[in-house]
Amino acid sequence: MKFSLITLATLAAPAFAKVYYAGVAESGGEFGVWNDNGVGRGLPGRFGSDYAFVNKTAIDVMVKDDKINLFRLRSFWSYFDLFYDAVQYVTARKRRYVLLDPHNYMRYNYHFAQPYSGSIIGDVNDPNAATTQDFKMFFTELAKRFRHNTRSSGHAFTTGNGNEPSSDYLHLMKDPLNNTAIEIHEYLDDNYSGSGANCTQPVSRLDGVTNWLKQHGLKAIITEFGGGVNPECAQALKEYIDYLEEKEVWIGWTA
Ligand SMILES: *[C@@H]1O[C@H](CO)[C@@H](O)[C@H](O)[C@H]1NC(C)=O
Ligand SMILES: *[C@@H]1O[C@H](CO)[C@@H](O)[C@H](O)[C@H]1NC(C)=O
Ligand SMILES: *[C@@H]1O[C@H](CO)[C@@H](O)[C@H](O)[C@H]1NC(C)=O
Ligand SMILES: *[C@@H]1O[C@H](CO)[C@@H](O)[C@H](O)[C@H]1NC(C)=O
Repeated sequence: MKFSLITLATLAAPAFAKVYYAGVAESGGEFGVWNDNGVGRGLPGRFGSDYAFVNKTAIDVMVKDDKINLFRLRSFWSYFDLFYDAVQYVTARKRRYVLLDPHNYMRYNYHFAQPYSGSIIGDVNDPNAATTQDFKMFFTELAKRFRHNTRSSGHAFTTGNGNEPSSDYLHLMKDPLNNTAIEIHEYLDDNYSGSGANCTQPVSRLDGVTNWLKQHGLKAIITEFGGGVNPECAQALKEYIDYLEEKEVWIGWTA
């Protein structure tokens, strides 16, 4: 399970269970970092062949036929202008919501290895690490570019895979506007990573975090979950979505 924080564009707080946002996690700009020359050699990458943020035709289909209202758009550290275009397409043109996801886990490295390896941002002993100043500049710039876009919201930091130490701290964060939700990833395969084809974990694995959210008066959104293409997983995923709909703390998901 991975935790992160998002601030939501608009979050009302009714007393009943409500999924406000349901949609798709797009893979995106982070793939530009890799090419045939090897790990990390792809930067800055060629837009449209090494990477893209969205497939606009596919967005059109998902909005029209699947009636989804949220796209989680992943970007890398740069590419602001092209990313901006993708965000505008979803929010201004299609009038749907975007979760802005700078997909770096506070680390600089090869995207397939994230979040388990790489230079930790702010590590002064590592010459490859981005500095905390870089980190601040990045998020300031990101926030500046999208702060007037009421259909976008930010995704940020903290990672891990189960028994998160961050659960001792995340609830201490104070948002004066009460407009923050915790973002969580949880797959249904053996080690919750999404790399196995079989859905062996029951959705009741979410009970712990559901109770933690309730205990601290927090809301959350699952932005990565899924299973293999088989009937058992189809059933498990249905139960998963039903679970999120039943529990008041869950306000949305992207698969
Ligand atoms: C974009 O999406 C459309 C509709 O799903 C699909 O036909 C097309 O192949 C996609 N383009 C790329 C480059 O993946
Ligand atoms: C946020 O929630 C807290 C605790 O429920 C409440 O005291 C405070 O007034 C709320 N603030 C806003 C801006 O709604
Ligand atoms: C989870 O298990 C799969 C094998 O089923 C393995 O390939 C993958 O690296 C594991 N992922 C993590 C995060 O431990
Ligand atoms: C997934 O389940 C199928 C059917 O039960 C089984 O044949 C296969 O070995 C399982 N795969 C893994 C990686 O456990």
